Amino acid sequence: MIKTICYISNIKTNTSQKELRKLSHSISKKNDELHVTGVLIIQNGHFFQIMEGEESTIENTFKKIELDKRHFGLIKLLDTTIDYRMFEDYESGHFGIVNDFSNLKKLKTYFDWIKKANILAIDELVMLTNNFLKYST
Ligand SMILES: Cc1cc2nc3c(=O)[nH]c(=O)nc-3n(C[C@H](O)[C@H](O)[C@H](O)COP(=O)(O)O)c2cc1C
Repeated sequence: MIKTICYISNIKTNTSQKELRKLSHSISKKNDELHVTGVLIIQNGHFFQIMEGEESTIENTFKKIELDKRHFGLIKLLDTTIDYRMFEDYESGHFGIVNDFSNLKKLKTYFDWIKKANILAIDELVMLTNNFLKYST
């Protein structure tokens, strides 16, 4: 069973760009190992993450994320099972990190493409992402 979770949180104050880069790198590596696909957007003091993968993997990883002291005020926006991965073709199947304009453009192009696929939850995820991008700027 494939599961997806989406949440927002606040980056702990005084986190340096170097620390964020290190965190991004370890998340990408770990998620490739666990075959977790999705995207983490880092913008204006906030994290926005969509993660999808094997149900138990997602649940275990999310438990760790909730306890992680590098962010706070986590709010879960979506937690549901899905039939197919939505981010399988994003970044060639690697977990995506968005923290600059060019990566964001790529994500938006991907959304325009994937929206045509008839996958339940994609509309909701696109809406959640767009709201995040709108209100965190
Ligand atoms: C905003 C944020 C997002 C994270 N996302 C992931 C993730 O997608 N996958 C992951 O394995 N760890 C993620 N982590 C790191 C986990 O909280 C945890 O440190 C990591 O899974 C290592 O756990 P372990 O040492 O028990 O293996 C994230 C941490 C933060 C602060």
